Amino acid sequence: MISLYDKGEHKNVFFDDLTSGQMVQANQHVIFHGNEGIVLDPGGHKVYTKLFSQLPGVMKINDLKHVFFSHQDPDIIAAANGWLMVTDAQAYLSALWMRFIPHFGVDEKVTERIKPIPDEGLTISLGGSPLKFIPAHFLHSCGNFHVYDPVSKIFYTGDLGASLGQTYSKVEDFDSHVQYMEGFHKRYMPATKALKMWAKTARTLDIEMIAPQHGAVFPTRELSVRFIDWIDGLECGVDIMGDSFPVPA
Ligand SMILES: [Fe+2]
Ligand SMILES: [Fe+2]
Repeated sequence: MISLYDKGEHKNVFFDDLTSGQMVQANQHVIFHGNEGIVLDPGGHKVYTKLFSQLPGVMKINDLKHVFFSHQDPDIIAAANGWLMVTDAQAYLSALWMRFIPHFGVDEKVTERIKPIPDEGLTISLGGSPLKFIPAHFLHSCGNFHVYDPVSKIFYTGDLGASLGQTYSKVEDFDSHVQYMEGFHKRYMPATKALKMWAKTARTLDIEMIAPQHGAVFPTRELSVRFIDWIDGLECGVDIMGDSFPVPA
């Protein structure tokens, strides 16, 4: 467990070592304020077992009142049923994905505790402190949200900012870090326009840290700005593909 912020009644931590084997490395972020906690993008079944046993190091299980799903991918949401069955938490997911989630075996009884996030986003109260679900559509999912925490000033950006293959948890040198992000962003992010929309939105927020769902976090204001600038200048997805698809021989 790595602490990102700990002041007064507000805590931000993440776990970066609960994935194993062939699973893509994923971070599970937890925010706690007052007497309420939220898990962001909790992951699949194997991660669920480990995270559930480690969560008491941050909060009482009964204080887990919210679960956030940035989008519909298995590394985010495969264990939705488990989290909702053993807690009384409210979950949040893009309205676009609501009808698809029952296919993961989410029990009828708990489906009603998944609240659809409208396309425009949502602000919730975490133990009396606001937490903003900010639209980040097509980054990479068509119904996709990031989380801005105005207390810690951490911007949680899901798959945006993902890095794969490096050995550190916090970026120190931006230029040497680009090699771990570039391939993923060019192929998994579908459109340059969405990157530019995000950069414009991010520049309106007061950001101390950017924390993605995979790989290392950008732990300072300066590195966060470097990342926003990099995204602003990147071309990706359909914009760098040819004008037709190959047909395999
Ligand atoms: Fe994803
Ligand atoms: Fe992911």
